[in-house]
Amino acid sequence: MKTRFLKADVAGMKAAAQALRRGQLVAFPTETVYGLGARALDAKAVKKIYRAKGRPSDNPLIVHVNGSAMMETVAHPTSLARKLIAAFWPGPLTLILKSSGLVPDVVTGGQETIAVRCPAHPFFQTLIDFLGEPIAAPSANLSGRPSPTTAAHVYADLDGRIALILDGGPCNEGLESTIIDARGRYPVLLRPGSLTVEDIARAAGVKVLNPGANSPASPGTRYRHYAPDCRVELVSPRRVREGIEALKFPKTGLIHRSPSGAPLPGFSRKIPGGLDVYARSLFASLREAESFGVKTLYVETVPKRGVGRAVMDRLQRAAGLSHPAQ
Ligand code: TXA
Ligand code: MG
Repeated sequence: MKTRFLKADVAGMKAAAQALRRGQLVAFPTETVYGLGARALDAKAVKKIYRAKGRPSDNPLIVHVNGSAMMETVAHPTSLARKLIAAFWPGPLTLILKSSGLVPDVVTGGQETIAVRCPAHPFFQTLIDFLGEPIAAPSANLSGRPSPTTAAHVYADLDGRIALILDGGPCNEGLESTIIDARGRYPVLLRPGSLTVEDIARAAGVKVLNPGANSPASPGTRYRHYAPDCRVELVSPRRVREGIEALKFPKTGLIHRSPSGAPLPGFSRKIPGGLDVYARSLFASLREAESFGVKTLYVETVPKRGVGRAVMDRLQRAAGLSHPAQ
């Protein structure tokens, strides 16, 4: 298949809506990461997403809506969900709710629940308005790879596998949405993301729980993820400052915030500024290291608070370390 590459402007929008109506796959920018969309109500089109990404069929997809009215066609909101929606939609918050049954099983993995999100990116919002229907969309990477934060990342993974890529520049957040099971009285954190747990607890007025034995873990968190094609080793700020001896070997690389006490290797990225900048640059830096031919990549850890929780979740997965979903 020949993949078309267009700007995310009005002409791009028309081409995207037309392709989606024909049952084709389209990649587009969102405020979190690039998404790979199909019409959520078109089971045949949604099947193509799994094929294009090489994604296990038991890993359900997020359904994107343009607001509460569209959400209520596909899901049954709780009072907790309404509170969180008022505070954070449109934005990087995905809610797990009971499905209305409208969306086909291939989207939800045949579960009773559905994941819904109302994106804040103007292009994606307008696309849903234009189509007038919900769009099912995972991140637009090959399964297991770091999520794409530029159109070039999408192209590298999916050229020849999808109909169209819309280029809207780099994503603002650079990390996926936070996933909350909002079916009960307390929010349950299924995947940390760019919206922080602290903000969610403040808006909900109750604490955010970790998944217990009875909560449905996000199936996607079972798999190795976010992995570039090199070995990733996590190092503390202290080790970076003291100097990592192994950086003298060829084909090593370093992604860091603290000053390095060792001579820098061929590939190094110092990401200045706050945790949000580290979060935004992380996936792009992992891909850059890989294309530079790095074989062992040292990545500095961050404190697990605020967006640091999501950063560490992705880093631990990239390093192949097993750990709880939080
Ligand atoms: O920011 C984002 O969330 C991006 C953009 C494109 O919206 N999307 C994204 O989708 O990250 P994906 O497919 O890469 O990750 C979705 C996660 C998976 O871990 C999946 O298992 C989980 O959501 N999920 C989907 N439906 C679920 C459900 N009904 N119950 C629990 N987890 C669910
Ligand atoms: Mg993904």
